[in-house]
Amino acid sequence: MSTPHIHAAVGAIAETVLLPGDPLRARHLAQSLLSDAQEVSNCRNMLCYTGHYRGVRVSIMGSGMGIPSAAIYATELARVYGVQRIVRVGTCGGVGDVGLGDLLLAQSASTDSNFNRLQFGGHDLSACADFGLLSAVAGGASRMGLPIRVGAIFSTDVFYGGDAALLPLLLRHRIMAIEMESAGLYGLAMREGFKALSVLTVSDHLQREERMPADQRERGLAQMGALVLQSLS
Ligand code: HPA
Repeated sequence: MSTPHIHAAVGAIAETVLLPGDPLRARHLAQSLLSDAQEVSNCRNMLCYTGHYRGVRVSIMGSGMGIPSAAIYATELARVYGVQRIVRVGTCGGVGDVGLGDLLLAQSASTDSNFNRLQFGGHDLSACADFGLLSAVAGGASRMGLPIRVGAIFSTDVFYGGDAALLPLLLRHRIMAIEMESAGLYGLAMREGFKALSVLTVSDHLQREERMPADQRERGLAQMGALVLQSLS
């Protein structure tokens, strides 16, 4: 059996999935970090690999960009493939005193998306990370000597031409960064019963108009992949 968007056999995807946005990054991470990585789905080119890290079975799959895309994959992974843990590894735009290359663990994700409200009776859901995953990755970072920041982020539906009034509000609420998936992933985790965490590298800065070059973004992703896999294995 497969799902409309994942053409893997049931059983071919591990209980722990790393979820970068870009499917080619999923392939790169799987080929560089996992032993015996096998491609198990390429439906719509949203590549999914399964292999092992230090004896622990892990899958790595692209999510696409934005809550609707990530939510389709996360829902099918949880409902059909029995996935228990989804760790998004991605990039974000920094706000305030975070700098390019900083490593962030998203404890909570506010949002301008209506996705969680649509499924929570119009109420505001407090979309938060799983504490066990958060503390495991924070502990792993400490053992590896990697500085991290743990705090609040914001998931937006608007990449271009967003509301100029948003930035002062993010600063006022001490939100560290902006990206486009975590609030939906965290809300889904609550409803579907899997555990979720977002680990993010600051790839650009909203106030300083700085942007990481592509090679540094690649290194950031490899660092996050290694951190998550070492922390969970
Ligand atoms: N906005 C939204 N998502 C992002 C950004 C941004 O500035 N940077 C990286 N992901």
